[in-house]
Formats: sequence, structure tokens, C-alpha cells
Amino acid sequence: MALWDTKVLCLMFLLTGAVSQRVIYSDPVCGVRGSTVTLLCTFTPNTVTQDGREVLVEIIRVVWCQNHPLCQGSTPTVYDNKRLNNANNPRYRYLGDTKGNCTLQISGLKEEDEATLRFRMEDENKLSFFTNTTGVRVTVVDGTQMKILSSRDGELERGEAVTLTCTTKCTFHQLEVTWFRDGHALPDTGPSLHLSPLKAEDSGNYTCDLKNTVGTISHPFSLNVEAGEEEQMSLIVGVVVGVLLALCSLILVLCIIRRKRAADKNQSAVREEAGPKQGGAIEAEGDVSYAPIQFKARSQARPVEEADDAVIYSSVVGRG
Ligand SMILES: *[C@@H]1O[C@H](CO)[C@@H](O)[C@H](O)[C@H]1NC(C)=O
Ligand SMILES: *[C@@H]1O[C@H](CO)[C@@H](O)[C@H](O)[C@H]1NC(C)=O
Ligand SMILES: *[C@@H]1O[C@H](CO)[C@@H](O)[C@H](O)[C@H]1NC(C)=O
Repeated sequence: MALWDTKVLCLMFLLTGAVSQRVIYSDPVCGVRGSTVTLLCTFTPNTVTQDGREVLVEIIRVVWCQNHPLCQGSTPTVYDNKRLNNANNPRYRYLGDTKGNCTLQISGLKEEDEATLRFRMEDENKLSFFTNTTGVRVTVVDGTQMKILSSRDGELERGEAVTLTCTTKCTFHQLEVTWFRDGHALPDTGPSLHLSPLKAEDSGNYTCDLKNTVGTISHPFSLNVEAGEEEQMSLIVGVVVGVLLALCSLILVLCIIRRKRAADKNQSAVREEAGPKQGGAIEAEGDVSYAPIQFKARSQARPVEEADDAVIYSSVVGRG
């Protein structure tokens, strides 16, 4: 009597519409033959009221089937957790649980896997069960042309890094990728080719392909490695410094020549004016007191000139 009451109660709750149960599938999946695809899926069981509390119905059976709207009854399934001896197709692995995750993984994809797959959940008494009829479409392709994407646009320079990725709109998870540069196979087998630091020899036409699959080879991707920015910079700096140095020494030489000439003129002027004229003597004195100041100011920058100046000025001093 008590059991019957509970059942009726449950049924009443189901009928009065606690229809919170749902199943959310991943977007349609496309996989290359031989690869592994994962159908992400989540579900929410119905709720019932027990002792005044809302609780989730306990799901005990989870099923995936192909091309059937409800997966009910004796419909053939690709996965059933209640199948005797767990004799499910080993290529179909249920990665989910009975609480809320219904993710299914299909490996070694074959033509016969192309289908719309649906998930069904059931409670113990089959009072609560649900199939979302939307399902998830699985497409299997054979030869799909691969494409190379680069992590960087524009010019690449020596010492930089770039990652080339071999892609296609269909999943090829678990399949080996072969990389070529100018037609020669490279040792890398992953979907990404990381080149760092870039060298001039990395320049070339790259292609990628799926191993053991026909008609998948990509269009060539042309990689061109330029001389590094740093190298260019140091070259420019070197040239600029060289030119500046040449200019400086030229100016220095010109200055020295000028000074020598001026000093020679002064000397002859001093010689001419030395004697009776007072003004001349004062001028000469002015030169003398002025000389050490100039001499000091230049002492660090121009050791060569300094020596020259010292000679010139001392000679002026001596004669003045
Ligand atoms: C059924 O699945 C589709 C696709 O995942 C989802 O958008 C929709 O909400 C689901 N409906 C229910 C009642 O679970
Ligand atoms: C469900 O399980 C799969 C496989 O373990 C996992 O990748 C996924 O993130 C899970 N989904 C949620 C919503 O936890
Ligand atoms: C790459 O291909 C282009 C045209 O397809 C060609 O002009 C170029 O010389 C090739 N580069 C190398 C390094 O082979």
C-alpha cells in the first residue's frame, strides 16, 4: 500500500509537470576518417518532491543511439550502460556519468559512424525518462584539404618565433600530421610546428598532410625570414657612429689648424705691437689671463688639442 502511494505521488509530480529535465548536445561534429571525436553533452534529470524537498530523480540507465528519435525500447544502441557484460562497441566510450555529464567519444572514425546520435536517460522505474530529439550530427570525411595558419602576420625576422598550425574544419584528433619544407619531410608529427628562434634556413614553402590519408595535403605556406631588427639596428648605429667619428676628427683637425694659424698671427701681432704702445700690452695681458680658462674647459674633451694649446699659450705667455 505504502509503495503504491509513493508511485502515485511520483506519477502525480511527473504529470503536474516538473519538466525541468533536459539534454544539451554539442554542435555538429565533423571528423576525418580514423580520427577521434568527442560529443560533449550535459543533462539534467527531473526533480521530485521527497519529504517536502525537491530532489533529482536518480538516473540508472544512459543510452546513445543512432538515427532514432527516442532511443526507446529495443532500439539498437551504440552505447548502453546496462548492456550485459558491458559488451559495448569499444570505439564508443562513454566519458560521462549518471549525474549530469553524457559526453561520448568515438575513436577510429568510420563511414558507418556518420549519423545523428541521441542520448536517453531513464530512472529505475522508467517513470522518468527523456530523449532530446535534436541530437548531434556526426559527419565523417575522407580527403579534406588541410590548411596552414600562422601565429604571426607580416614579416618575420631572425630570432623571432612563429607557430604554424595544420588545420581543417573537420576534427583530426589522434591522427598524425606530416610536415614538409620545400618538399622535404620534417621530423615533427603534431598539428603545430613551432619555429623558435627563427633562422634564415627556416625560410621556405611549408606544407602539411595527414599521415595515411589521401587528398589532405595543404597548399604551400611561404615563410620568409628577414635579417633581424637588432642586426639592422646595429648596422645603422655602426654606420652613424662611423660617420660621426669621421666628422669629429675632421672638425678637430680643422680646429687645430685654425688655432695654429690664429696663434701664429697673434704671435706676429704681439711681436709687432710689443714695445712703446700701451694698448697693445693690455691686449696681450688680456689674452694671457684668458688663456688658462679656455685651456681648463677643454682639458677633458680634447687631449691632443690641449697639448697643442698648452704649447701655443705658453709661448704667448712667454712672449707677452
Ligand atoms: C535539446 O538540444 C538542443 C541542442 O543541444 C538544445 O538547444 C535544447 O535546449 C535541448 N532541449 C531540451 C528540452 O533539452
Ligand atoms: C563532461 O565530461 C567530459 C569528459 O570527461 C569533460 O571534458 C567535460 O568537461 C565534462 N562536462 C562538464 C560540463 O563537466
Ligand atoms: C615557394 O613557392 C613560390 C611560388 O610557389 C616560389 O616563387 C618560391 O621560389 C618558393 N620558395 C622556395 C624557397 O622554394
